[in-house]
Amino acid sequence: MDQNDIKVLPMKDLTVDNITENVIRINSQNDDPRLTYVLERLVSHLHDFARETRLSTKEWKAAIDFLTAVGQICSDVRQEFILLSDILGLSLLVDSIDHPKPPQSTEGSVLGPFHSHEAQETPHGDMVSHDVNGEPCLILGSIRDSEGQPIGDVKIDMWETDSSGHYDVQYEDRQGPDGRCVMRSDASGNFWFKAIKPVSYPIPNDGPVGKLLSKLHRHPYRPAHMHFMFEKPGYDHLITALYLRGDPYETSDAVFGVKSSLLVDFQPADDSIAKRCDVKTGSLVLKHDFVLVSEEEANSLREEKSQKALADLGRMVKMVDGLPVPDVD
Ligand code: BEZ
Ligand code: FE
Repeated sequence: MDQNDIKVLPMKDLTVDNITENVIRINSQNDDPRLTYVLERLVSHLHDFARETRLSTKEWKAAIDFLTAVGQICSDVRQEFILLSDILGLSLLVDSIDHPKPPQSTEGSVLGPFHSHEAQETPHGDMVSHDVNGEPCLILGSIRDSEGQPIGDVKIDMWETDSSGHYDVQYEDRQGPDGRCVMRSDASGNFWFKAIKPVSYPIPNDGPVGKLLSKLHRHPYRPAHMHFMFEKPGYDHLITALYLRGDPYETSDAVFGVKSSLLVDFQPADDSIAKRCDVKTGSLVLKHDFVLVSEEEANSLREEKSQKALADLGRMVKMVDGLPVPDVD
């Protein structure tokens, strides 16, 4: 847009009662309807928040200082804003809105800040953790579509902590990736690897988010889990995790990621699995069938849910690229 096209709207003497409409109006002169809509809702909710809480200047300054501290502790390997979003339940909410799941498909869970792109492509059957203190286990996975057909050549990304509850990226002296791998499902939709039994661990709590949790009398623990990400063109990107049933934090995950459908149990390896996968009979095995949703199905479910949510709010919107924008035509 040419700078000369920008209209200067007359605004002065703004008050508690009319500032919101004026800020929304001046933000609406751009040519991106999605940006206009998102900012309209953001300003509207932020202003209502301030009006409803009767926000004091002292509290607003404390919030600015808190967000500044969240930014200042961030680095290449520390993402405090993701932690903040996670402990506020926003990460899980956004994932659930953007990746709706029909019944019977694998539910999503939080990504967290510890996924990295360093994992090597690993052949099936390899051990992906070098932690000698971890309890070895075998993971046997399958990937199917909602009709039960196997999906081959899916890129599978897995990451987990070591036995002390730390991800490789949390060690300053790390030599390379550990406790993570990337592999592809075979033509029958199967994949398998050796890893260590996951443990529960606290999310990083030595920064502003940790201080907030302790002020709120909330613990920082996540139940034992193993993260998975699945990608294949034509299928909705799935970020999920498997959680060990019976973990002490199963019902109080600090970041709200646990779903009943993602709870799993280890079983002892029988002779046939032991022989086939080169593990000891009786050692820990986890079998899990993952179900991916096609992109088409995810897109139509997302749109259907958006239309319903916005109709319930009484908003006149239309969908552009699957996302709502104001319907001004
Ligand atoms: C994780 O599971 O890796 C994680 C998730 C949210 C916050 C911190 C860690
Ligand atoms: Fe984790």
